[in-house]
Amino acid sequence: MKRVFSGVQPTGQIHLGNYITMKNFVKQQDEKDCLYCVVDMHSITLPQDPETLRKSIIELAALYVAIGLDPNKVTLFIQSQVAAHAELAWILNCFSYMGELSRMTQFKDKSEGKQVVTTGLFTYPVLMAADILLYDTHYVPVGNDQKQHIELTRDIANRFNNRFGEIFVVPEPMIAKVEDGARIMSLDDPTLKMSKSNPNPHSKITLLDSMAQIKKSIMRATTDSEAIIKYDLTEKAGVSNLLTIYSQFSGDSIPSLVEKYEGQGYGTLKKDLVEVVTAELEPIQNKFHQILQSGDIYDVLKQGRNRATEIATPVLDRVKQAVGFVTY
Ligand code: TRP
Repeated sequence: MKRVFSGVQPTGQIHLGNYITMKNFVKQQDEKDCLYCVVDMHSITLPQDPETLRKSIIELAALYVAIGLDPNKVTLFIQSQVAAHAELAWILNCFSYMGELSRMTQFKDKSEGKQVVTTGLFTYPVLMAADILLYDTHYVPVGNDQKQHIELTRDIANRFNNRFGEIFVVPEPMIAKVEDGARIMSLDDPTLKMSKSNPNPHSKITLLDSMAQIKKSIMRATTDSEAIIKYDLTEKAGVSNLLTIYSQFSGDSIPSLVEKYEGQGYGTLKKDLVEVVTAELEPIQNKFHQILQSGDIYDVLKQGRNRATEIATPVLDRVKQAVGFVTY
């Protein structure tokens, strides 16, 4: 059975862009051996408030279940609960190059203009490589922005294998298909990617937004003054973004949506989009609250930790043996 691994950071709120990636997690759970991780160690590469982080970790775990991951089919766990991640990351740090890490665009974006940049932020992609390689992962479902990190993971794995023999499975990215490579953009400014760090609450829709807030954010989304519903990423970025979101939620193709709304105003499109989005998110929110209240999530995470450790331990031993450490 092919293995799938992916991780989400427990920082900020999960927005629609993240959600589309996570829906792809759910699709994999029946045919593949899936491990999904709350990557809390990645989150401390930037400053965090401890109590907020602790709460976000459990909430993200609950959200994983609420969106449809079945704890009896997949392994859900918290990264910092499996020490092998840190151990393998250290070893891989000794096989990664300053030059290649300096070229990571996410590092450049996150470090730009900062007075202090930690080495953790710099080696973030090496920890991500460790996450993936630790489980003999075949496929990694991620958003487009993580493609470069997966390339790096493959480079490190191949480098290691060339030096020591077939130690690692070389993984492949699995990128959710969005029409024409479109991304989910900010609602207030469709030239920017929808982002956790955007301070305007109406720039994004997060999975835990109230229904009233979702409505407000969609109804006030930036479009244009043409009042023609057309899919055109450069000329009509705002409307195209609404169509992309609609299509991701309803499953309708973009051309069929363009046809459906031909001759109608943006108001109708937006109103219907509110319906489609809230109809899907409301039951997710109900389930989310129910899971948190029941306390069952801790059992799920313990079981996940045990299974993850079981898989990771022999892989880490294999690596330790390869580099010349003593295992017994
Ligand atoms: N870097 C990823 C992100 O920000 C999160 C992540 C960490 C991840 N480790 C991973 C994703 C391993 C996939 C596989 O989205």
